[in-house]
Amino acid sequence: MNILVIGSGGREHALAWKIAQSPKCDKLYAMPGNPGIEEIAECVKDVSINDNAAVIDFAKNHSIDLVVIGPEAPLVNGLADELTAAGIKTFGPSKTAAQIEGSKIFAKNLMKKYGIPTATYEVFDDVNRACRYIKAAGAPIVVKADGLAAGKGVIVAQTVDEAVNAVFEVMEQKSFGEAGSRVVIEEYMDGEEASLLAFTDGTTIIPMIPSQDHKRVNDGDEGLNTGGMGAYAPAPVMTPEIIQKAEEKILKPILAAMSKEGITYKGCLYAGLMIVNGEPKVVEFNARFGDPETQVVLPLLESDLVEIMLACIDGGLNKVKINWSNDSTVCIVLASGGYPLSYKKGLEIDGINKAKALDTLIFHAGTAKADDKLVTSGGRVLGVVARAGDIKTALDKAYKGVEVIHFDNMHFRKDIAHRALRH
Ligand code: AMP
Ligand code: GLY
Repeated sequence: MNILVIGSGGREHALAWKIAQSPKCDKLYAMPGNPGIEEIAECVKDVSINDNAAVIDFAKNHSIDLVVIGPEAPLVNGLADELTAAGIKTFGPSKTAAQIEGSKIFAKNLMKKYGIPTATYEVFDDVNRACRYIKAAGAPIVVKADGLAAGKGVIVAQTVDEAVNAVFEVMEQKSFGEAGSRVVIEEYMDGEEASLLAFTDGTTIIPMIPSQDHKRVNDGDEGLNTGGMGAYAPAPVMTPEIIQKAEEKILKPILAAMSKEGITYKGCLYAGLMIVNGEPKVVEFNARFGDPETQVVLPLLESDLVEIMLACIDGGLNKVKINWSNDSTVCIVLASGGYPLSYKKGLEIDGINKAKALDTLIFHAGTAKADDKLVTSGGRVLGVVARAGDIKTALDKAYKGVEVIHFDNMHFRKDIAHRALRH
């Protein structure tokens, strides 16, 4: 098969890496891809992934048999619908189904209607009413912009003032543009978070190995929220009992709920969970694989990812055997100093081959080639992934890999998987 991966981050590098191992994959393309992906796929840089017609043209001209969409924006932009209508098999939900991520209000209302456990909430399109609600409810409290805000539209406010300021910034100053014309204000949930990604064909839903992300930029979960500074799998907080509860109370019901509303969800469904007193509750749904969760989950998948993806598209996922390794994986994200605020780009990166020689996998995220040199080009630059029989050994291996990689102002967390070590 000729396969096209859409996207350019660490998640897409991990997807491409796993897809390239499939006996079904003859030729792999990535759009736009990155220098790491370029080692295993042909990167297409002259077509915008936001231009659905141009992507379809490319797919037709290159006899693409399967398109795998990594990021949320093209999903919300209806790329899967248009590719499917053009007769091209596509892994990723339709525009309507992707609202589960694209609109927090859609997701919350659906959960409320079908009794799926999540934080209690109210929706506001009026600043004054939102502020009155916050003052009555008290803090801590969480303010969320309705639409897509590149993972930054959530403010976990510790005080009423902070929450009120967040409402002004999101709704009046439009810090996330139209995504913030409506907000969800919800109950603060106190617990441990985990990410449960699942494959679904619209009828059957099968969870992957649970993982845990580290969203804050600094050690001890301090500092600003980022796209994710590291991850590990499996996450011990997700005991077999909690996984089962998540399947029965969250994954199956949300799929059934969408189906009742006339929406068929196919692809990867990401449930961001908060485990509160042994009960999983939904923090958010994403319509795609997680980043950096994918970088730790896919290396543990022993089955053919392409076969699973085809079953998600064509149906019959219940007949596919999905095997996972018992090993543990860790991903340390190497970020540009200053991220998630401003940071320098174009800094030379070295040591990647040395790190690979230490039995690590290196997934590129924000890298570029400049005069044949590898340089930084984004906030999250690389993911260093290691695998071992237990989490501690995997961690030691990953940090040994990190030690030999260098670029100026390189920043990474030194406490990835600290919760797993405590469990
Ligand atoms: P989201 O973009 O929805 O994943 O939110 C970003 C982060 O904010 C989450 O990973 C949580 O750490 C935190 N968060 C979101 N909603 C809540 C909530 N209701 N209670 C506590 N923390 C939350
Ligand atoms: N790691 C968080 C996300 O992918 O949304």
